[in-house]
Amino acid sequence: MSKIKFDLEIKFGTQYGKEEEEAVLKVLRNNAPTSGDECIKFEKNYAEYSGVKHARVVSNGSSALFLAMMGVGIKPGNRVLTTPVTWIATAAAPVTLGAEVDFVDIDLETYNIDVNQIEAHVTSNTKAIIPVHLYGQPCEMDEIMAISKKYNLSVVEDAAHAIGAEYKGKKVGSFGAAGCFSFHEQKNISTLGEGGIVLTNDDAMFEKISLYRSHCTRVHGNSTKYCKLDEEKFPIGKKFWWQDFDDCGYNFRMTDIQAAVGIEQLKKVDMLNQRRIDNAAYITEGLKDVPGLTLPKVRPYNKHVFHLYPIIIDPKEFGMNKEDFIYDLLNKFGIKAGFHYIPLHYSTAFKNRGFKKGQFPNAEKLGEQLVTLPINPRQTEEALAYLVQSIKDLRS
Ligand SMILES: Cc1ncc(COP(=O)(O)O)c(C=O)c1O
Repeated sequence: MSKIKFDLEIKFGTQYGKEEEEAVLKVLRNNAPTSGDECIKFEKNYAEYSGVKHARVVSNGSSALFLAMMGVGIKPGNRVLTTPVTWIATAAAPVTLGAEVDFVDIDLETYNIDVNQIEAHVTSNTKAIIPVHLYGQPCEMDEIMAISKKYNLSVVEDAAHAIGAEYKGKKVGSFGAAGCFSFHEQKNISTLGEGGIVLTNDDAMFEKISLYRSHCTRVHGNSTKYCKLDEEKFPIGKKFWWQDFDDCGYNFRMTDIQAAVGIEQLKKVDMLNQRRIDNAAYITEGLKDVPGLTLPKVRPYNKHVFHLYPIIIDPKEFGMNKEDFIYDLLNKFGIKAGFHYIPLHYSTAFKNRGFKKGQFPNAEKLGEQLVTLPINPRQTEEALAYLVQSIKDLRS
């Protein structure tokens, strides 16, 4: 395999600096606890940044989605709507709670769920919808919120790709019952390779998420850190405490070292996103006249944060299909592109649940023709020029 040139691969989405290094060492010298003061501070800062009341840090974006589905009460027999073009974690969250997923095809301009097709999928068992702000472009939230109100559906936003993205001036993750983010190594900011957060404005939902995140532990006594006091049994001032478990939950906690890095990353997120936006603009300008390529279209009211840069390749006009494009880009030019995503209804997991090829034609077109180009805030102008020229050279 050729050597990757200029950091041009879909890996390691963010950039760490001295601040993150110092934050890690500070927590390390303080015994590197789990779920301590750094987590609380990161949650407070993230909630403020997003304009929501509560935030709870978790081990990853998948556990964020799972807890949010629990939080809105998803259970066996319920149906949850989402897009087939996403990472499996989105659809796995309701399925692992015993619910059924129903996919709604995508809109071919934004690649997000097609809001005009949602209502046709609503049944009396439909309880929730998970819009995914794919590649960093927000979904049509006005329409999604109106439909959810009409049919009494809970909205859980999958904002794994869209840290810092905005719809009509409002941060994604703040619209629905809950917003879920991932800080995996490829995401726009990261907490040392893994991490996630759930946002909500709902007090009861926040309590449920917090409990199930950590074995449903309720500490009684005079520890006020995470739990309410049971003042009748142990008056404030006494040093006793005991713990009880409201139910059987999970361990989806984040560590303080990760949260300390998250605090520093969050200070930089707008700057890092701006670099992505500028890099995307450079690629768009460079490729706009290349026949056979469809480049991303940003809705004017959206702040798209370009977690990925998707292009559609028309094999006839461009002269090669997606597979050859990816192969040649890597082997001739040392650039590693990706294909996010093969539609979920092609997977064994969802074929076994009754889905078939032909059900979602737009998602299928993406599966056949979409390539995601490497984009990150570290890319230099030289790297971007090389990326653009290599794609042009592929065609000739
Ligand atoms: C759209 C989407 N949702 C959820 C997740 C799950 O996040 P994590 O990998 O942090 O569990 C991902 C991860 O790539 C994702 O891309």
